[in-house]
Formats: sequence, structure tokens, C-alpha cells
Amino acid sequence: MKRSFIREILECIDDTTISFAGGLPDESLFPIKQLQKASNKIVRKRDTWQYSISNGLFDLRDKIASRYTKDGFDTKADNILITTGSQQALYILARYFQNKDITIESPSYIGAMNSFKLNNLDTKSIKIEDDGIDIKCFKKSIQNTKLTYLIADYQNPSSFTYSMSKRKKVANIVKSNDAILIEDSPYTDIYFDKKYKSISSYIPNNSFHLGSFSKTLSPSLRIGYIRASKEHIDELLLIKESIDLHSCGLSQNILNEYLSKPKKLDKHLEVLQDNYKKKMEYFCKCLDNMLPSFKYNKPKGGMFIYGEFKDIDVYELLEKSLKNGVVFVPADEFLTKNKNKKGIRFNYTNSSFEEIKKGITILSTLIHT
Ligand SMILES: Cc1ncc(COP(=O)(O)O)c(C=O)c1O
Repeated sequence: MKRSFIREILECIDDTTISFAGGLPDESLFPIKQLQKASNKIVRKRDTWQYSISNGLFDLRDKIASRYTKDGFDTKADNILITTGSQQALYILARYFQNKDITIESPSYIGAMNSFKLNNLDTKSIKIEDDGIDIKCFKKSIQNTKLTYLIADYQNPSSFTYSMSKRKKVANIVKSNDAILIEDSPYTDIYFDKKYKSISSYIPNNSFHLGSFSKTLSPSLRIGYIRASKEHIDELLLIKESIDLHSCGLSQNILNEYLSKPKKLDKHLEVLQDNYKKKMEYFCKCLDNMLPSFKYNKPKGGMFIYGEFKDIDVYELLEKSLKNGVVFVPADEFLTKNKNKKGIRFNYTNSSFEEIKKGITILSTLIHT
């Protein structure tokens, strides 16, 4: 069990470092004024400061459920469990399914793989292609594991996004094998073109759908959630209660107040999508101009660009770039097997346009001189 390489990198950088490493949103886009307004209102109420129920505030769950229903995925407040970030949701589910085998994508999200390892789940990884998981291998694997963890929208780290056809195929395979899907979706609302229907919406009783406000509003709130059948939610509650009784009441109340006018979040998401799309386009342009040997797929949403060089050892590059104030994450960190010393995941949301240009210029100079 190793600590996340990304967290270790984040610990050794300072304010002057250009970081393409973390999965951090753009701070300048946090809707601070509106969150401040919501905070001012709720801090005056005494029950904001009191213990709360373990599922999470009813009104907040109800609002999250309405957003699902609006997207065509019929959901009630009872189907929602508020968690302390979606990272806690992953831990709760890993605890719930402890000691089992689980089919995952390769590459996959480090935080999920660590939770699985800690809870003794045996991961079977299947290659992900640019339109989703390799269906033939997935089918074979799920017959044995009966459990899978997938990130269908703008995957972390690869940014790959499942086509509608693969979403339906995966849903059919899960259902026909009487299996369970854990669908992790923190990037779903950061789309540049269209919003995709979740795989879970085709199999509401065979799925746990995870969401988060970290990437869209603010990670500091630490508010995520699980959407599942009421029976499943009731079982997860036991684990949730033994971890922290309930997620932070202050954060839940701020968020609940912020969401009281649903259009506010929708408008904010439009700003975010527009800004991130421009940054992604700019990052790609800089890569194409200055690092043409780096091959990648242009993201349809999310926060990352993932690709590889033909013959550059990115660990050697990272050692030099760290000394020159630029960091990124080698793709190998997201793999359980099959070494990849040539791949990189770049985060494009947390740097300014100037930093993007400067950072890629430095990488280009290190490679080409
Ligand atoms: C795929 C995925 N799942 C879950 C998380 C955890 O997010 P949070 O706990 O902030 O909601 C992240 C964070 O980067 C992620 O990329």
C-alpha cells in the first residue's frame, strides 16, 4: 500500500510551481459571493450547529434527488446518502464489499484503488479504450467478480468517455449477471458538448451512483453523495455512522441554501464548462505546437489530458521539471499492472493561460535541448 504519488508531489511544491499534477479546480471560479451569502444566512440558525441525521439533511437530499429526476433518472431523497466527499463514498462501498473481487478500468482512480486495497478487495483490471471499457474482457471478468467500479464520464486519469452504445452494453452485462456497478461520476457536469445518460440509470437497483460537489462548487465543502436503492442506502448507513455519524452540518446547510435557487448552480456550471473548455483547447494548442510527439485524445469534458510520448521516460522528465518548477503525474501511477513510463496525465483546470504556456515551454525546452 503506497501513499498517493499526487499527494506526495503536492506536498513538495510551492506557490511558484506550475502544477499540472493535482485534480484541482480553478479557484478563481469558486462562486464565493453566493456561498458567502448562503453562509451568512445559515450561521444564524441554531440547528446549523447541532448534530444532524446520518443520511444527510433531508432538504439537501431532496434537491439532489430532483436533479437526478430532472435528468430522467427517477430518484427520491431516500435514495441519497450524503457523504464526506465522494472519497468517503468509495471507502464506505469498499468496506461494504470487503474481501470481494472487483472489475476495474485500467488506468483507474488512485483514491478508489487505495480504498479497495485497504478493504482487501482484489482488483481485476480491464483496458479502457477511448469509448469505454473493452466489452469482451469486461463480460468475461464480471462473470467472476459480480462487482465493478467504473468512471464513465471524462475518466480520471484518461478523460475517456463511454459512448452511449457502450453504456447500454455495460448496463445489460451487469444486469444479466446479477452483478453490481459502482459508477463514480464527479466530472459528469463538466461536459463540453452534451451530458451523457449515466449507466446506473439503466440499472437503478444494481448500481451505486456517486456524485460530488468538489469539482463543480468547492472541494473544501467535502460534500459528495451516493444514489442507490433505499435498501442499499439503509445498509450503507451502518458504515457511515461508524465513520463520522454524519457529514459536516455546516457544509450541508451552506450547500442546501445555495441550491435553494436551482438556476444558480446551472448558471455556475455554464461558466465552468465554458472556461474549462477554453483552457483545454489552449492546453492542446500548446502541446501540439511545442510537444508534437505527445499523443493524446482531446477530452470531451472533465479536467485532464492523458497521453504518451513515443520514447521519453517521463519519470526522468519529471525529475528535471520538478527542479524547473513544473509538475505532472506519470501515467504509471494509475496502473495496477503493465508499466507505462511514457505516459502523462496533465491537469489543465488549475493553471492560468499564462502558466499553461510557460509550463509547456519549460517541458519542451527540457525535452528538446
Ligand atoms: C474519480 C474520482 N472519484 C472521487 C474523487 C474524490 O473526490 P471528492 O472526495 O473530493 O468528492 C476524485 C477526486 O479527484 C476522483 O477523481
